[in-house]
Amino acid sequence: MKILLTHIKELVQVREKSIEMLCGDAMKTLPTLENAYLLIEDDLISAYGPMANCPDIEVDQTINLTGKTVLPSWVDSHTHIVYAGNRQQEFVDRINGLSYEEIFNRGGGILNSADKLQNTSEEDLYEQSKVRLEEVMQQGTGAVEIKSGYGLTLESELKMLRVIKKLGANYPVKIKATFLGAHAFPAAYKDNHEAYIDLLIDEMIPTIAREKLADYVDAFLETGYFSVAETERIMQAGQQHGLIAKIHVNQFTAIGGIAVCVKNGALSVDHLEIVTDEDIAVLKNSRTMPVALPTCSYFISIPYTPARKMLDAGLPLALASDFNPGTTPSGNMNFVVATACIKMKMTPEEAINAATINGAYAMGVSEEYGSITVGKKASLIITKPLSSYYEIPYAFASQHIDQVILNGKLI
Ligand code: NIG
Ligand code: FE
Repeated sequence: MKILLTHIKELVQVREKSIEMLCGDAMKTLPTLENAYLLIEDDLISAYGPMANCPDIEVDQTINLTGKTVLPSWVDSHTHIVYAGNRQQEFVDRINGLSYEEIFNRGGGILNSADKLQNTSEEDLYEQSKVRLEEVMQQGTGAVEIKSGYGLTLESELKMLRVIKKLGANYPVKIKATFLGAHAFPAAYKDNHEAYIDLLIDEMIPTIAREKLADYVDAFLETGYFSVAETERIMQAGQQHGLIAKIHVNQFTAIGGIAVCVKNGALSVDHLEIVTDEDIAVLKNSRTMPVALPTCSYFISIPYTPARKMLDAGLPLALASDFNPGTTPSGNMNFVVATACIKMKMTPEEAINAATINGAYAMGVSEEYGSITVGKKASLIITKPLSSYYEIPYAFASQHIDQVILNGKLI
């Protein structure tokens, strides 16, 4: 199957060679090609270039994109798309004055979602989750990491991970699964953390690794959740079973978590609403990608990740949605990019690089996603006519996407 896209007004994020990650000043550049063509063969980008060089070949479909912009699909490296029900009541409770922490301390928050998930069948969980996956596909997401972590028992964690696997098998989206059993201590282990850590390390991680249900391991390293030492044990257990760490850290407090994540070779450290100078120094020259989740900050009114400070210090940065029922009930990466520009003072170039190339690094899919490169997956966003790609963050609440192509399939 060959599809030829012609007369593309602007082809964005063109990279002759695949780039692993972009740091600091390099994020300010977003290479584009005006008046371009792009050829898709099966699920791959097989050629692109200026219209003057457009090949005169027989294809199955030609699409004239006069006035329209084409970007690589978004890479969302941090989500919790698989969950049961919603937390709308907590949303209203927060409007009425309760904090996220107060709600958790009353037994709400993550434990509320865990209760709901325990009482939802695997089939129902799949049906609820696929609606959200289909929605983010329409919004231009072509690769997405999905975490477990609302199970908190072996049985329920396995249920979540099987749903994630089934989504990956049924949709033309790249999915990576992360085991987040260390999301919160279940009520039964409130006063016996040691026993829950043992359960995670001795039973859950080995079983999940054996059944090949996860690519990564995560923990909520935070005051009142998992300590630095507990998280380190989980990272090391994961590593022994081939699960690299991607860690929730520095969302509310800075307690030295980033250093221990870097020391243990974490692929990414995510949230980072609170970042110290020491954290920046530790991340510098590491292979760990910092990931900001600006729509979480927006939704629960907490500080935004200090992107300017980090980028000006030469760090890389990725952007992800954090789609989850408690802190970010949206996976719209267009809005994530806009929020990063509006609230974190990232330029459109920096934000788009962060949501494509650097996002791909943060979920280990750089070879296939994140840029317009020959040989990468044909996962593309086709916009409505735009004056420039600046319009995506500028007209932040408008619907700019006309069509989406994922792994060569028109959605
Ligand atoms: O990334 N911070 C930890 N985990 C999620 C929220 C979990 C929840 O409230 O359900 C997050 O924000
Ligand atoms: Fe999260």
